[in-house]
Amino acid sequence: MKYFIVTYGCQMNVHESEKIAGILEQLGYKECKKREEADIIVFNTCAIREGAEERVLGNVGNLKRLKKQNKDLIIVVCGCMTQKEETAKNLMKKFPFIDIVIGTFNLPKLASYIEKVKEGRQLEILQEGELDEILPYKRSDKDNAWVNIMQGCNNFCTYCIVPYVRGREKSRKEENILNEIKEIIKEGKYKKITLLGQNVNSYGKDLEKPVSFAKLLSDICALDGDFKLSFMTSHPKDLTSEVIDVIAKEDKIEKYIHLPAQSGNNRILALMNRRYTRERYLEIIDEIRKKIPNCRITSDFIVGFPSETEQEFEDTMSLIEKVQFDSIFAFMYSKREGTVASKMEEQISDKEKHLRVNKLLKLEKQIQKETGKR
Ligand code: SAH
Ligand code: SF4
Ligand code: F3S
Repeated sequence: MKYFIVTYGCQMNVHESEKIAGILEQLGYKECKKREEADIIVFNTCAIREGAEERVLGNVGNLKRLKKQNKDLIIVVCGCMTQKEETAKNLMKKFPFIDIVIGTFNLPKLASYIEKVKEGRQLEILQEGELDEILPYKRSDKDNAWVNIMQGCNNFCTYCIVPYVRGREKSRKEENILNEIKEIIKEGKYKKITLLGQNVNSYGKDLEKPVSFAKLLSDICALDGDFKLSFMTSHPKDLTSEVIDVIAKEDKIEKYIHLPAQSGNNRILALMNRRYTRERYLEIIDEIRKKIPNCRITSDFIVGFPSETEQEFEDTMSLIEKVQFDSIFAFMYSKREGTVASKMEEQISDKEKHLRVNKLLKLEKQIQKETGKR
């Protein structure tokens, strides 16, 4: 029995696919290289932008042919896209050959759904679930071990679907994280350990005995072993001086911070509910550069947020010029049903968004050429 997993979206999803692989291996499945050879195909989906969802739809649609050739093939669709109940129901209707559709919170029950698959098609979307600690992972990267430190997000940036499909922030107990990392060190296979969370800097605030992210970092560095530690993603509103100090001090921590700015204009930042200003963002960059001179800094930007004017977009350009990031990701705003921004008037046309994103990427290329950065 063989499995094939198709993963979309962020590193959290990549890591979640390692969980799925672990569950399937416990059921006796082995990984295969081609979907044509598989007895079970799992689509672990992403909902962050419309484009991500369209890719999933196209690729799931193509499986009809395989299901015709192999009636026993099991097709599972899970992840952020299917955590949206309406989308999940539509998928079931549109593609009658899908066997199991489950949301992000149902993942721990995947094995029992597969065992029941002979009884008929299944759809289940839990609204919120517990953090599981017992699942096995089949780590997919040979150098890097991903470690989830929290799930969900409380920030509700007005453009973003993540809080709706991943629920509220829940931190894992520090003890469990340290134990997982000790195991990874003991295995001796991984040079790098990367901590994952949508907003790692707010780690531990929700725990019964609160622990700061800075303390978690120091405690991990105190473990014996030869490894490099990194983490993603940091939200500028929560990145404290304490965390910057720990990164500066600890040799084990990689000198790299991904710090999404999203926009360089204060009106747009407020509309996005990011809760920092352009000035505050630049202050943090200054502090990082002073305390960690060789730190690589990267960022994400969204262009064409509802009502963004040409002048406000220019503020994003000037921020990028000022900071001279090591690299950036630039996205055209994508309207996500159910978010606050999707109801805002003055949506920007696709044509204008394309123009802005191209302008921004051109500037980025020019900066990289001038500074010799990657
Ligand atoms: N938790 C992380 C990022 C998660 S999503 C953070 O807050 O930084 C990764 C990136 O996708 C975001 O930084 C943002 O730039 C982009 N993004 C999120 N929602 C989007 C949307 N509706 N349209 C376009 N880009 C979006
Ligand atoms: Fe989305 Fe904002 Fe949370 Fe990041 S911090 S996941 S952009 S709501
Ligand atoms: Fe990640 Fe996409 Fe979900 S970016 S959290 S997989 S919506």
